[in-house]
Amino acid sequence: MASETRKAPPTALVVFGASGDLTSRKLLPAIDRLAANGRLDDRFTLVGVARTEMNDAGFQQRALDAVDDASAEYKEVAQRFRYVAGDYAADETFDALKTVLAELDLPPVFYLATVPTVFAEVVEALGRHDLGSGRVVIEKPFGRDLETARQLNECLHAVFEERSIYRIDHYLGKETVQNVLALRFANTIFEPIWNRRYVDHVQITVAEEIGVEHRGSFYETAGALRDIVQNHVMQVLALTTMEPPVSIDAQGIRDEKVKALRAVPSLSAEDVSRHVVRAQYVGYTGEEGVAPDSQVETFMAMRLEVDNWRWAGVPIYIRTGKRLAARATEVVLQFRDVPHLPFASGQTLKLGPNLLVLRIQPDEGITLRFGAKVPGQEFEVRTVSMDFTYAEEFAESAPDAYERLLLDAMVGDPTLFIRSDEVMEAWRIVQPILDAWKDDDTPITRYRAGGWGPGEAARILDQDGDHWHDPLTG
Ligand code: BG6
Repeated sequence: MASETRKAPPTALVVFGASGDLTSRKLLPAIDRLAANGRLDDRFTLVGVARTEMNDAGFQQRALDAVDDASAEYKEVAQRFRYVAGDYAADETFDALKTVLAELDLPPVFYLATVPTVFAEVVEALGRHDLGSGRVVIEKPFGRDLETARQLNECLHAVFEERSIYRIDHYLGKETVQNVLALRFANTIFEPIWNRRYVDHVQITVAEEIGVEHRGSFYETAGALRDIVQNHVMQVLALTTMEPPVSIDAQGIRDEKVKALRAVPSLSAEDVSRHVVRAQYVGYTGEEGVAPDSQVETFMAMRLEVDNWRWAGVPIYIRTGKRLAARATEVVLQFRDVPHLPFASGQTLKLGPNLLVLRIQPDEGITLRFGAKVPGQEFEVRTVSMDFTYAEEFAESAPDAYERLLLDAMVGDPTLFIRSDEVMEAWRIVQPILDAWKDDDTPITRYRAGGWGPGEAARILDQDGDHWHDPLTG
């Protein structure tokens, strides 16, 4: 993994989908930060490829417009940006790209930021034009299901070696997600209790306050299961439940992550009906690009298990949704009750379970909840919190996820990218849910914006006598 002095070697970053949303919202601002922080080589340049007709100067201007308060360093780098206009299916586009790359004489890193439907087309064209010796970064979604992910892997492997394929999940670029590794494997105090003997259950929540915004037509092809669970949630789950790696490097970490995912049993159709809930926020069908009778889920909750020595029998609850009460991503470990409570019931009325809450975002940090004696003549015990927050503890500001991952890709560190076997395991876990939903024509449940989703989500936990953690009130 990275040390703070890392710098990208000379690189031509070739961005397919250069006139698109992701490029202007995420990639160009990340390049601005990398330039400002001195992480780029003096010769670094970006080559944009897209269908929109533009020349180099037009693209350079667009690149400047995309970044608010651009740094002086970025303004300088942007003057070197190049642009190739053309269709992704046309050989001329790639001939023109080859000419530009020959002029630049820099090793390319290809970045696929296009709509996913043209990923395969671009990869095949890179192969036909002998450009498969570079590295390729590929955005999500990686396939639509198990079979299309397998096909995409096959297509990539026909051109690139697996070690040169960087499948992005921007959650892995988040500091707090990486911190799960530090918390678990740099401390002795958590590891002994990080298992079925002490953990009652785990909750992973990815809640968003926003709706689908202007991405309605994309979201119609995805839904919460594909958009968030198959990738972001599965990655957080793997980091939370994996065994200690031999070393914190690409192979060490990814081997253990994939083992954890492999231990998740495939759900039967009956499991799906008992342990999975989907719903849609009221108003979704009125969003731009959304079908008036859409059944696409904007919320889902489920219960699964990681069936291995460490976790057997521990429920893992997952929920994600748009238009919920707050933006909050968190992992909660709820610990078992003490074997015997030596207090009278009146003395522990305000005592809840021990909780460890990893706040991935916002208000990044960690909270430990435990019981303490309330000062006074009586013996009353209530829950209190011990808090660590990034903002208070560290003066350094965290790099944005894309800043981190772009540098990793240029340096050639695949640790925070998803390996082929991992992406397939994640699809294996969600595929039975996709299958069950396909055959289910029950109209989708609706939930009001501003809450925590449909009442049915509580049902999944009721079966085990558990309750969802409220990220706002703790
Ligand atoms: C993206 C999804 O991968 O993650 C979006 O496509 C979602 O629908 C976003 O809004 C959430 O990312 P973050 O970093 O805001 O949690």
